[in-house]
Amino acid sequence: MKNKTFYVCAACGHKSIRWYGKCPSCGEWNTLEEEQEAPAPAGRAPISAAKAAEVIPIGALDLSEEIRYHTGMEELDRVFGGGAVKGSVILLGGDPGIGKSTILLQICQFLGRSCKVLYISGEESKSQIKLRAQRLEVDSENLFVLAETRLETMLATIDAEKPDIVIIDSIQTVHSEELSSIPGSSAQIRECANRIISVAKTQNITTFLVGHVTKEGALAGPKILEHMVDTVLYFEGEKNLNYRLLRSVKNRFGSTNEIGLFEMGDKGLTEVENPSKMLLSGKPKHVSGTCAICVMEGTRPIFAEVQALVAKSIYGMPRRTASGIDFNRLQMLLAVLEKRLMMNLSESDTFVNVVGGLRLTEPSSDVAVIIAIASSYRDKPVDDKLVAIGEVGLAGELRSVSGMGFRISEAVRLGFERIIIPYHSELKVKYNGVTIYPVRNIGEAIQIAFSGEERRGGA
Ligand code: TYD
Ligand code: MG
Repeated sequence: MKNKTFYVCAACGHKSIRWYGKCPSCGEWNTLEEEQEAPAPAGRAPISAAKAAEVIPIGALDLSEEIRYHTGMEELDRVFGGGAVKGSVILLGGDPGIGKSTILLQICQFLGRSCKVLYISGEESKSQIKLRAQRLEVDSENLFVLAETRLETMLATIDAEKPDIVIIDSIQTVHSEELSSIPGSSAQIRECANRIISVAKTQNITTFLVGHVTKEGALAGPKILEHMVDTVLYFEGEKNLNYRLLRSVKNRFGSTNEIGLFEMGDKGLTEVENPSKMLLSGKPKHVSGTCAICVMEGTRPIFAEVQALVAKSIYGMPRRTASGIDFNRLQMLLAVLEKRLMMNLSESDTFVNVVGGLRLTEPSSDVAVIIAIASSYRDKPVDDKLVAIGEVGLAGELRSVSGMGFRISEAVRLGFERIIIPYHSELKVKYNGVTIYPVRNIGEAIQIAFSGEERRGGA
């Protein structure tokens, strides 16, 4: 019998019997790839012949054994939710050159102390891996290397070597000779990942898969891979800046809010223990247009700086540029400033930038953005020891945000002296060494932000 041919969208997995230039389901162009339906294996037992399996009460399950591997990097463990779970499959995605291979090779040193690690690379030769390992000072005798792209050889090696941890760099280079589709196609990736995952699950091997990101920013074969694995981590960062953010977008064994911060140096990646200190280190003093912000990344408050520049527009259309903050959010904040505080921003170009490549995803920095813009507009510096926290509503009012206790404690620890917070925030404790200003609207907030600088100005 002839195998049936159908077409599968590489982006969303939609199946159709004919080819389209545009996927009927997700609307992406040029994503449909040809696939052959595999014939059903002969001799499969009918369902009625299957025997019932034994079930266990959840209380009787024993979890006393250590179920997580520590990686030797606290930042990484934090993103995992306390270490990589034994037998889990982790997908690590990110742009080329961001440091995926580097971090995985680095953790091999620590992992090698307690277990056997097999590093399979389809991208580098053994000697290239050795070179990198030398530079990273990785020489664990429990680390084994294999330069291979054929799935069958990999699985046979895993079966023979019985490692505790397998790293596959990258899943896109793996191909199976049993499949007719071309290497790198989504059918290949899906099928190979499937077989690797089933080996990982049955033999309880913790498996790291490196996944490349397409130019649109999604993991190649994106949705399909994300469904299959337990944890999806993304490595982010500006290539020309030294530090990297590790974010989890899916985690069956932990929170997806935690981030890890690393710095790329000549000996690989090092953890950044105090990100706020690093992000604030370059903040200029007594200059207009900058204000300290506090964002919650998971359970951790991180302090950084937002900068604004309001300059007279030379064209009729004012330019507005936002980096690190949503453009529409910036438009809204500018409209609030114009309407509520009568600032004439329509004839000026406005640029807003969150330093350090940080991206603001929660609205708690709204008021700080407003203050930075007002500061640049009036050319008045904001008090250096002040941080502003709060969401801004359309009426110009300040609205409360979550995690206020954490934020204030950390602000105190970092040496801030004055904190602007929304009027209705609930504070359960008193904080010593800082002045807290509960304010109702952006007008009050701006007034307070400028007052300290004048007071301190002479000093
Ligand atoms: P790499 O881990 O190869 O990226 P990926 O696997 O995500 O594609 O990282 C390569 C980049 O990291 C490269 O631009 C050089 C830089 N690098 C360092 O700066 N220091 C180092 O010690 C190493 C190993 C790499
Ligand atoms: Mg690599």
